[in-house]
This record gives sequence, structure tokens and C-alpha cells, in this order.
Amino acid sequence: MTQAGVTIKPAQGKLGVLLVGLGAVSTTFVAGVEAAKRNVRKPIGSLTQLGHIRLGKRTENRNPMVKDMVPLASLNDIVYGAWDLFPDNGYEAALKAGVIPQDLLDKCNEDLKNIVPMKAVYDKNYCRRLEATHFKTETNKMAQAEALIKDIETFKVNNNCDRLTMIWCASTEAFNTLTDTHKTVRNFEEGMKNNDPSISPSMIYAYAALKCRVGYANGAPNLTTDCPALQELAQEMRVPLSGKDFKTGQTLMKTMIAPGIAARYLSISGWFSTNILGNRDGEVLDDPQNFKTKEESKLSVLDSILQPDLYPDLYGDLYHKVRIEYYPPRKDNKEGWDNIDLVGWLGMPMQLKINFLCRDSILAAPIVLDLVLFMDLAQRAEMKGIQEWLSFFYKAPMTKKGLNPIHHLFAQEMKLQNTLRYMVGEEQITYLGLDY
Ligand SMILES: NC(=O)c1ccc[n+]([C@@H]2O[C@H](COP(=O)([O-])OP(=O)(O)OC[C@H]3O[C@@H](n4cnc5c(N)ncnc54)[C@H](O)[C@@H]3O)[C@@H](O)[C@H]2O)c1
Repeated sequence: MTQAGVTIKPAQGKLGVLLVGLGAVSTTFVAGVEAAKRNVRKPIGSLTQLGHIRLGKRTENRNPMVKDMVPLASLNDIVYGAWDLFPDNGYEAALKAGVIPQDLLDKCNEDLKNIVPMKAVYDKNYCRRLEATHFKTETNKMAQAEALIKDIETFKVNNNCDRLTMIWCASTEAFNTLTDTHKTVRNFEEGMKNNDPSISPSMIYAYAALKCRVGYANGAPNLTTDCPALQELAQEMRVPLSGKDFKTGQTLMKTMIAPGIAARYLSISGWFSTNILGNRDGEVLDDPQNFKTKEESKLSVLDSILQPDLYPDLYGDLYHKVRIEYYPPRKDNKEGWDNIDLVGWLGMPMQLKINFLCRDSILAAPIVLDLVLFMDLAQRAEMKGIQEWLSFFYKAPMTKKGLNPIHHLFAQEMKLQNTLRYMVGEEQITYLGLDY
């Protein structure tokens, strides 16, 4: 059935992308966008830039590009802002991260140098591995939020932006649990005034964004907006939210392979995943409290895909273990190993080994681009609160209370595509096909 579609405001004027954290992922994102604009690199890995989408029946042969089907902001209209715990500009940060090849760094050095980070909101308890030098002097959390709101407003005026969107590309915070403070906006605001330790810096950024009617995407596994108070605020301010934790590397592979094994009703007795990683992200994750946040996000994936409650004979005894080892020589070039112990017909054991020599920020950067463009689209379409259709990009997708997240990559892709079709009033594709 064809839907009426939704009203989407045009993508006119400049879109300010506010990056929390100007490290490996953020600088690689900027370099890739600038390289695509100059036509020196293709935006490989970006759905919004390269993807096509089927519309109507297979016989219609309608496969427009996603960016021609929905009104997305043009790359030429993006301007960047950032906050970081260190004063390095984008060029210096990129040099330290060591991800971008020198020829490309030379081509976009001005674009990167022009990104000078604003002073961060910092709480040592949430990131013990980094000795910050560039942070706000306000010590009260509400005052910190007000300082961020001022930063956002000043950035918007100075850069002549029509719209803004914020994305957390900063270090993973130490493990945090929800308390009564996170239950309502009122409690949360009281908590900020009283410097409640359970309010982390990422929550303060998110609060400031929402108060300014700026959408907030969360690239790390910290809870941040995955709490009732900030979801209530997003509804009140009519702002989209999405998260958590960019789906790259090993988890991306897991959400491609596990659905295939499950579709053939093969049993899995064990899945051991380990990584070596030598960038600053790896250094922060070397702290057990920060790793615990990541571990929760990485472990949640298999249960939802394999459904051991429904299939106790196949997955009831599955042993799932995930490790990340900080190993500086590898820098951003992460290597992931997976060993999957499978069991088949007659109870016979088999093994599958995966060795993925990936590049962390190279996989994450196009996701940043897709997320900021889709979050801006959602906001122009008045889609407020959790944007579950963006689960495709996340390891630990946020859902409304009472809904189980979908982790299966191709189910997530279908959901994303059907949402885009819905937005422009195109028919949903169910793959029924009986009418052919
Ligand atoms: N690269 C990937 O494949 C991938 C996948 C999933 C999630 N992530 C997450 O993305 C985030 C960024 O990764 P990265 O490799 O760019 O890390 P990075 O260490 O290179 O950069 C993070 C930056 O955030 C800054 N920072 C930390 N706390 C801050 C705060 N409170 N305010 C402002 N800045 C702050 C740090 O100083 C650092 O410069 C990490 O949380 C990581 O776990 C990355």
C-alpha cells in the first residue's frame, strides 16, 4: 500500500556538524568528506553517497540513488565544529591518529586546520586514561551544560548555519548505570545542579544539544541518551536521537555471519572474539571500567540474533567471549580474530575462523557521514525521539521501552530502506511477490 509520505523541509543552507571528540574517527570523517568533494577519493562505505534503493515492483526497474530519493544535505553545505580534551586542531589530531595517508592530508590540511576544538566537558572519573588539558573551568554540571549551549549558539551564528546536528565521536566512557536521576527531566536537571556523579559528560553534551533542538547521535557504547530523562527531553523538544556504538569491524562481521548460521539452524557452542588495537581508543578501552561499557555493547548482539530462548537446543549453551587487547604497534589497524565452534547434523563439530585485518576509523568514518545526514533528514521530517531505523549503523541499537533491538544487519537494512520509502510515500517492499 502506498503511504502518504511525510512533509520534509528542504535541505537549504548550511548544516553544522558538531563532533564531540576530535580524534581518529572525526578527522578521518572530515578528510573523507573533503576528499569526496574534491573528487580525489570516492566515498566508499557510505550508503547516502553511493547507495541505490529499489522502488516499486521488480519489473519497474526503478533504482534511484538514495540521495536523489530523499532530500539530504549536500556535502558542500557541511561545516564542522568540535570539542576535545586537547587543544590540537584537526590537522594535528589527524597526524597523531596516523590514519589518513599523507597525500590526502596535504590536500585537506586547511580544512582540518580550520577545525579548532572548543573546550570540553571533562570528568576524570569517566576517562581515567587521558590527562586532559583543554576543558571548561565550570565545575557545576548545570553550568557546564549552559556553557555548551553557549558554544552551540555561537557556532551556529558564526558559521551562518541553518541547522545543526551533534555526534559523539569521543572516547568510550567508564561503565555507568541508570539511577533515579535519569528517570525524568526534572530529576536530571536537579541532578546536574547537585553535581550528581551518575551524570556523565556525554549526558551533559546530549542535554545541551537537545535544549538547543539539535539531534544527537551516539557513536560510543556509553548510555548517554539511552535513559528516560533525555528521551523525554527529546520528545519535548521534538528532536531525533540515535545510538549506540558504531557498528564496524568485528561486530559488523558478527551481525552478517550469525544470521546466516541461524537461518540454516546450525548450532553454535562457542564464539570467541578477540582484537588487537593500538590507537587512543584502544588505550582508553584498556581501562577495565571503560572496556566493561564496550563489552556490554559487543555481547548483546548474538542473543538477539540467535534467540536462545526460542532455540535452547541450538544456542542454549553458547559460550560467548569478547576481548580487546591494547597493542600500540598496530595503531588504528585493528586485527580481529573470531573462532566459532559450530555443531551440525549428527551433532558433528565444525569450526569457522575469521581473521579481519581492518582499519577502525576507515570503517567508522562513512557511518558518521550517513548518520549526520540521516539525523538531519529526520529532524527536517519532524521525526522525534529514538530513530530505530538507524539501527543499521549501531552495535547496540536504542529502542523504545519494551521493544527488543534488531541486530540482524539485513533486517536493519530493510527497516532503513522501508523507512525511506515511507518518508516519500513509496510502496513498502515485503518480498511477498505472489502478484508477479
Ligand atoms: N573506529 C571504530 O571502528 C569505532 C567503532 C565503534 C565505536 N567507536 C567509538 O568512537 C569513539 C571515537 O573513536 P576514535 O578512534 O576516534 O577515538 P580517539 O581516542 O582517537 O578520539 C576520541 C577523542 O575524544 C576526546 N574526548 C574524550 N572525552 C571527551 C570529552 N568528554 N569531550 C570531548 N572530547 C573528548 C579524546 O581526547 C580524543 O581526542 C570511541 O568511543 C570509540 O569507542 C569507534
